[in-house]
Amino acid sequence: MRIFGELQDGDRVEADAARARLNLASVKSLLAVASPKGGSGKSALTVNLAATLASAGRKVGIVDADLNAPSVTAMLGVKVPRYLPMTEGIEPVSGPLGIRVVSGEFLPEVQPPPPISFVELADTRAEPAREPLEASHGGALARMLAQTRFGNLDLLVVDLAPGFDRLHRLASVIMPTGVLLVTRASGEDARGLERILAARERLGLPLLGVVENMVGFNCVNCRSVRPLFPEGQVSRVARAAGIEIVARLPFDPRFAESTERGRVFVQEYADQPIAKQIVQMARRVDALINARAAEVRDPIVLSDAIEETSG
Ligand SMILES: Nc1ncnc2c1ncn2[C@@H]1O[C@H](COP(=O)(O)OP(=O)(O)OP(=O)(O)O)[C@@H](O)[C@H]1O
Ligand SMILES: [Mg+2]
Repeated sequence: MRIFGELQDGDRVEADAARARLNLASVKSLLAVASPKGGSGKSALTVNLAATLASAGRKVGIVDADLNAPSVTAMLGVKVPRYLPMTEGIEPVSGPLGIRVVSGEFLPEVQPPPPISFVELADTRAEPAREPLEASHGGALARMLAQTRFGNLDLLVVDLAPGFDRLHRLASVIMPTGVLLVTRASGEDARGLERILAARERLGLPLLGVVENMVGFNCVNCRSVRPLFPEGQVSRVARAAGIEIVARLPFDPRFAESTERGRVFVQEYADQPIAKQIVQMARRVDALINARAAEVRDPIVLSDAIEETSG
């Protein structure tokens, strides 16, 4: 059997990926939350989706896979633990409602998260002694998934950094049970969505649906929803591809403000219509992913992963 620490970079990511698949055998469903563009609301919605399902009795975990700009611990108001050497494994933090959280912030190699520069990338290739986790999101993600003690979970949500490549990388480590795409209602996001949808079948991505976020502005003082982006651009793309729009949510300043304070919006503002919409969205995603998990015979553990690590 090969010794883990002696593997070359490429092999090492592969070995981590194999271990990740094995490690996630205790997780019933893996949900990837992705987006074509940044700032669409993935992390804020991930946190609120997780909280909704956790308060319904599900055992839920979140992986904050955005290494450059992790945000889940702040949004949940939990403290980042002192990191452990990777050989000892990563213990998730327990957040509100018992949500188990692991973040790129816990990895020694990316703490504090350094900016990525092309110069660093070039240097790294010349001298591969220190593993450039920060330059290799796929590698760091595989490591987190391989080494975190998730325990038994009904649902593990992977909150990805923006862009299709992140989703592609996750899928190359482990195919999620389902993918939820979060877009703003802008034309730019609609075009990005179109590109993802075009690639989805080729990659076999199990797309559950799209959340169209920031559809209009919820003006609290004037008690009406004001237009924000030209209507219907994302819906048109999703409808043409036969993809479900799981929710259409307005921009509500209270959502942003509550999230900034590290509070769970659906709990703090449970009576607000948008909070009720988010709860509905979470229930729908839960139903869709459970149906999908029941469809795929062996959703997490791949037979080649078992062979590779037992040899
Ligand atoms: N519907 C909404 N109403 C009000 N604020 C929102 C809404 N959706 C998201 N936000 C706020 O918008 C900001 C961006 O959201 P968030 O960080 O969740 O996006 P993201 O897609 O995770 O971004 P990134 O691509 O950088 O990871 C946050 O401050 C969040 O609280
Ligand atoms: Mg985010």
